Amino acid sequence: MYSVLTLVLLTIPHVPFTLASAGNVRIDELLLQQDQQRYIAAADNADSPHAPWSHKPWCTHSTFLRSVGQKYCVYTSNTTGPNGISLITTPKTAARAAPLLDEDPLSHFLTQTQAETLYYNPAPYEIVDIPGKDKGVVATRLIAKFETFMIDQASVFMDLHLEQSVGEKENLKLLKMGVERLRSKEVVRELSDRHKGADGQAQAEDEVEGELEEKVMMTNSFGTTIANVAMRGVFPVVSRINHACDPSAFVLFSTAGISIAVKAYRDIQPGEEISISYLTLGQPSPKRRAGLQTRWGFTCTCALCSLPTPQRMASDLRRAMISDGEEKAMALWAAGSIREAIALAEESVGLIGDEGLEPLLTDEFALLAKLHLVLGEREEAARYGARAVELLRGYGFLGVGEEERGDGDGDGRGEKWDLESLLDLLGTRRLYDN
Ligand SMILES: *[C@@H]1O[C@H](CO)[C@@H](O)[C@H](O)[C@H]1NC(C)=O
Repeated sequence: MYSVLTLVLLTIPHVPFTLASAGNVRIDELLLQQDQQRYIAAADNADSPHAPWSHKPWCTHSTFLRSVGQKYCVYTSNTTGPNGISLITTPKTAARAAPLLDEDPLSHFLTQTQAETLYYNPAPYEIVDIPGKDKGVVATRLIAKFETFMIDQASVFMDLHLEQSVGEKENLKLLKMGVERLRSKEVVRELSDRHKGADGQAQAEDEVEGELEEKVMMTNSFGTTIANVAMRGVFPVVSRINHACDPSAFVLFSTAGISIAVKAYRDIQPGEEISISYLTLGQPSPKRRAGLQTRWGFTCTCALCSLPTPQRMASDLRRAMISDGEEKAMALWAAGSIREAIALAEESVGLIGDEGLEPLLTDEFALLAKLHLVLGEREEAARYGARAVELLRGYGFLGVGEEERGDGDGDGRGEKWDLESLLDLLGTRRLYDN
């Protein structure tokens, strides 16, 4: 299926860096502090019997039949990342995840030059009150297309199996403790204001222990994978970015799944609110509404959801055609009707343009490259392949700094790439799905 906000599972080369800032949160300073704290923690190791965790894991056993006896615990390292990190998962997954906590988010996503640009200048965005939406993130200068302008690290991760494995009470206790043990728990707790009720009242008091933390988890987390286990992760800064069906930015996860970079899909003007899509791009309006309501707890009011009915239906029809197109093209390919498959994919390219869903073009260009390759039309295949690479590079899927390697003008490609291995690579992308 269409894989927007998808990731190529590539090892992003390690690039040395000095300092960078992620806007309001000075990640560079926090990371430096963190190094010192870790140093102190290591020196104190005799007093840290739970290393690498800063606290004794608190555990509960599953009483559910399907996972009876399985232990789930809170593992906190209050010296990792800007706020500390808590993982709520099984002992086995925690052991596998521990080495990943050392991942350095800055060098993952930024070249030295980019890191310095971000650090030596004021943050390119600010978190402000947005009428009707509580908080939002607004650009403070022009953010260029494909620029990486925000880096964030998760504070709490929750194993997706947890809910079906332990009772509600234990679940809430684990979540509460996970937040409680962080270095800056308020950064996470403050997110509960984000989704106010219809009457505009934020839930002031934590009526049932852990309820506030659970609410934050449910309405502010992103799906990610840590040590091959599906998790919900709360990324406190990225969480402030509101949803749009036609977003100006998107998130990219690090290889370890601990950190996020936010990149611009297009130029974002100073003063403009920055948006990301909380849903897989390209969904028709009924799915968007249902997804946002059930998963994130709010009504879709983005420009696309608010279109007059005839236009909305036309948009939904185009989206359905785009979505069905891939399957139909594959079926035509399987039946040997390559020309028809090409015609269909080309039609999808047009529809994607009409819907402003440029990120979906990578899949379409890759498909067209493959189809032309089947016909032995290498020149056409290479042309589509080059367009797919250009987009993937811009979206950061080819590793840090790749977008800086200019492709020149048309035929002069900056980097040599091999069509077959590129197309193999395109098959390895994983679907980002909440
Ligand atoms: C981190 O955890 C340790 C062990 O519980 C505690 O002594 C220390 O004060 C905590 N540090 C912060 C900054 O929360």
